[in-house]
Amino acid sequence: MVFGTKESTQKRYNPALAMAETTMGALPKTIQIEEANWRDFNAVRQLEQRCFDKDAWPWWDMLSVLTLPNIVRLKATLGTEIVGFVMGDVRPEQRRAWVSTICVDPDFRRQGIGDRLLDEVEGRVNVPRMRLSVRKSNENAIALYERRGYQPVGQWPRYYRGGEDALIMEKALT
Ligand SMILES: CC(C)(COP(=O)(O)OP(=O)(O)OC[C@H]1O[C@@H](n2cnc3c(N)ncnc32)[C@H](O)[C@@H]1OP(=O)(O)O)[C@@H](O)C(=O)NCCC(=O)NCCS
Repeated sequence: MVFGTKESTQKRYNPALAMAETTMGALPKTIQIEEANWRDFNAVRQLEQRCFDKDAWPWWDMLSVLTLPNIVRLKATLGTEIVGFVMGDVRPEQRRAWVSTICVDPDFRRQGIGDRLLDEVEGRVNVPRMRLSVRKSNENAIALYERRGYQPVGQWPRYYRGGEDALIMEKALT
């Protein structure tokens, strides 16, 4: 078993436990980053809803981004479970891409999955710069972006539902 203990019901990925499984002969389970597609619609939509609640995309937007061209979509999986998702919207004419969404299952946070997803999407967009927008109050995401070298380049006033401003951040990828 990979998740949790008798004392804790929280599903945390434990690399040491995964390794122990290997030595005991069971199949190891490690976080994998893979391309996502329309077949992941239900799982990604559920994950989005868990992560974003009222800010989650409507189903038609989600289906679009899982099928449209010029979009890098990646899922973090543990076995058959999707525990993270990121999307890079590539705009070659702007010579930049946008991180349109990134989310990690609340039970799997602070284990480096968001970091790995950004690493992978940044490596695949093939343009010199990456941008994103984030709620100004979203300290967790801003901490992740700052750590990865994103810097504030602007604001969109009252961009989000409820009237909160968006902070625009950018990173040079080359
Ligand atoms: C933002 C989010 C994707 C981060 O995913 P994650 O897998 O937990 O992030 P990581 O474990 O890779 O964190 C990497 C680093 O980012 C920073 N960070 C991430 N979450 C943090 C938090 N809650 N508090 C402080 N720093 C945090 C830390 O520097 C962290 O490194 P550390 O754990 O060694 O201190 C996740 O919290 C999430 O899905 N949030 C809800 C959706 C969301 O807000 N998405 C962004 C919309 S713009």
